[in-house]
Parts: sequence; structure tokens; C-alpha cells
Amino acid sequence: MSAATTETRPLLFTGAAGILGRWLRPRLIEAYGALISTDIADLGPALPGEETVVADLADAQAVDALVARAGRILHFGGISYETTFDRLVPSNIVGTYNVFEAARRHGVGPIVYASSNHAIGFYESGRQLDTEVRTRPDSLYGVTMAFKENLASLYYDKYGVESAGLRIGTARPDPIDPRHLSTWQSYEDLLRQIEACFAAPKLGRIVMYGVSANDRSWWSNALVGEVDYRPQDNAEAFAGALIPNGDTRDPEAPEVKYQGGPFVSDGYAR
Ligand SMILES: NC(=O)c1ccc[n+]([C@@H]2O[C@H](COP(=O)([O-])OP(=O)(O)OC[C@H]3O[C@@H](n4cnc5c(N)ncnc54)[C@H](O)[C@@H]3O)[C@@H](O)[C@H]2O)c1
Repeated sequence: MSAATTETRPLLFTGAAGILGRWLRPRLIEAYGALISTDIADLGPALPGEETVVADLADAQAVDALVARAGRILHFGGISYETTFDRLVPSNIVGTYNVFEAARRHGVGPIVYASSNHAIGFYESGRQLDTEVRTRPDSLYGVTMAFKENLASLYYDKYGVESAGLRIGTARPDPIDPRHLSTWQSYEDLLRQIEACFAAPKLGRIVMYGVSANDRSWWSNALVGEVDYRPQDNAEAFAGALIPNGDTRDPEAPEVKYQGGPFVSDGYAR
């Protein structure tokens, strides 16, 4: 599909009823004009410029019909927490396959998709990671995020489908936990990163960390020259309130020792 077609067709946004989705929808309309918002859950009333479609990502035909009408894709739909493999597979694995496969078939793209810090959550806290490190998932959920990154890699190398995977840290209005001083991404910075990805002349099959300019960040996007992401926020502004007496957490507790935090300690049995 030509760049002109990509830009005149609507942006397809999966996961639009989610926490990040609800914040992003009006901003995406402002940035890109027409938006098709989809989710398996109730999307609420459509905003001006928006079409809402309730669909299951595991339904290949429904996904195909949505992708066929789209220009670019923001794929945030899926299960965002640790649960059983049976529940993760249809939403995160089959659902992501359906999005990429439809994009390949219809020549639609690029795709910016949510990966997660939980794809690399078993690296030790404090260790500085660039975007070339191998995945080290901390949960079955994290494994599904690593799957997304691998699928995106295959679909670029074999078919030329361009994508950017965002290993989002902790996207929320404010950091509320000492760990967030390293992992926080403000909503505004997340939007800046999405916009920078879509503005890049060429994405290839990049993966980036979704993180603000935190003094205590463990993650670097320095190797991703293709995307001009300039985060403006810094969790350090909250450090005085969050850890007034310094970081008093037990450094050997698994949720402190490893980057994935509570996803690491959930079921940890070593
Ligand atoms: N919020 C964060 O800090 C964070 C961190 C890392 C990664 N992420 C990822 O970013 C994305 C958005 O996160 P969020 O916080 O808004 O999560 P969320 O759980 O609030 O939203 C995810 C949405 O996906 C939808 N969904 C799930 N299964 C589906 C299916 N089979 N078909 C269609 N829709 C389906 C859900 O109904 C939900 O509305 C998720 O993929 C999540 O894993 C978020």
C-alpha cells in the first residue's frame, strides 16, 4: 500500500476499550483523523470521527474485515495480566497472528503494537538493557509478548510488514511504587512514542522500550535510530514522595531483585 493510502484510510486501534485505549482515543482522532476503534468489551459511545466495532481478536474473519479497511494499525488489544495459558492464547497469540496475517494479506501497515517489560522481566533490576537483548519473560503473559515480537520479526523479514513493538513499562498517570521510578511512562510520553513511530520514514521490525526519561530507567532506545522519540517526563519528580527515607525494600525479594516486579514474584518457587 502506498504511503498516501496509509494516511488517508482510518487508523485501526485494537484494545480501544482498555485503560490506555480510553485515554488514547480522542488524542488519536486529533492526530490522525478517522479512527476505527475495536475491542471485545463495550467501547461506549463513539467519539466524533470514530467508528466503534465490537470484535474478538481471535475471530480471524472479523479481524480481516477490519484490517481490510484500515491504513495503519495500533494493536493494543489482548490480555494485559498474568492468567492461564488457555486464556492468553486466543487473545494474545491467535489475536496478534490474525492482525499481522490480515495486514500482510491486505498490504496494510505499519503496525505499532504493545509488547511489555514483562518480555524481559527476569533481568536483574539495575542492569542496563538495550533493544538488542534477548527476551527473558517473567510470566506466561510475558511469553505471549515475546511471541508478538518474534511474529513481527518474521512478518517483516519474510513479507516486509513494518512494525514497532513497544515494551511498555508502567503506563499510568503517576508512578505510585518505588519500582515505577525506573519503569514509569506517562500517558503523554506514550502518545509521543506512538506518534514518533508512525512518523518514522521506515520502521523495519523495531522493538523499543515504552518508558519516560526517568533518571532511574534501566532501558535504552539509543540503538533505535529510526524513531525520533523524545520523552518529556521523568519519574524522579515523584521520588521524594514515594521513597522519603530512601529505598527501604528488601533487594533480595524477587519482585525487587528482578525488573518485572510483581509478575516475577507471582508463583516464584526457586
Ligand atoms: N498499562 C501498562 O502499563 C502496560 C504495560 C505493558 C504492556 N501493556 C500492554 O498494552 C496494552 C494496553 O494496556 P491496557 O493497560 O490498556 O490494558 P487493558 O487490559 O486495560 O486493555 C486491553 C484491552 O484488550 C481487550 N481485549 C482482550 N482480549 C481481547 C480479544 N480477544 N479481542 C478483542 N479485545 C480484547 C480488553 O477487553 C481490553 O479492553 C495491552 O496489550 C497490555 O498488555 C500495558
